[in-house]
Amino acid sequence: MKILIVNGPNLHMLGKRKAEHYGSLTLAQLEKQVADYAAKNDVETEFFQSNCEGRLIDVITDNDADAIVLNAGAYTHYSYAIADAVECCGKPVVEVHLSDVENREDFRKKSVLTPVCAARFYGKKQGSYFDAIDWLTENK
Ligand code: DQA
Repeated sequence: MKILIVNGPNLHMLGKRKAEHYGSLTLAQLEKQVADYAAKNDVETEFFQSNCEGRLIDVITDNDADAIVLNAGAYTHYSYAIADAVECCGKPVVEVHLSDVENREDFRKKSVLTPVCAARFYGKKQGSYFDAIDWLTENK
């Protein structure tokens, strides 16, 4: 099984963003931990990060993975364009967040992606990505 891990805007700034919400790993360190976790479960991973909505839509709708783990960053809360891409991409997409989006500012409680995603994990920092990989391997 191959899983594409897609990280959206400002996730390239991990390590410099608020550690209490996002942890202290850089994006490269997070990707390494996720790749190692997946490999232990016989899952191949590929990683993509962009700050641009269109580039995220391009990769969600055109890739050779079996499933996608998506942290769309702030786009989560308002991008109907990304929601449409998730809905029509033809593969399971799991929404993840490092932080506890249900217990922060009100605007972070709304996700336009949840209705079109297969599952959702949040609030466990890199553990949210591990849970998404577990869910996809258990539900393939
Ligand atoms: C985030 C939560 C979003 O609200 C925020 O805009 C992000 C990261 C998370 O991983 O907790 O950039 O998706």
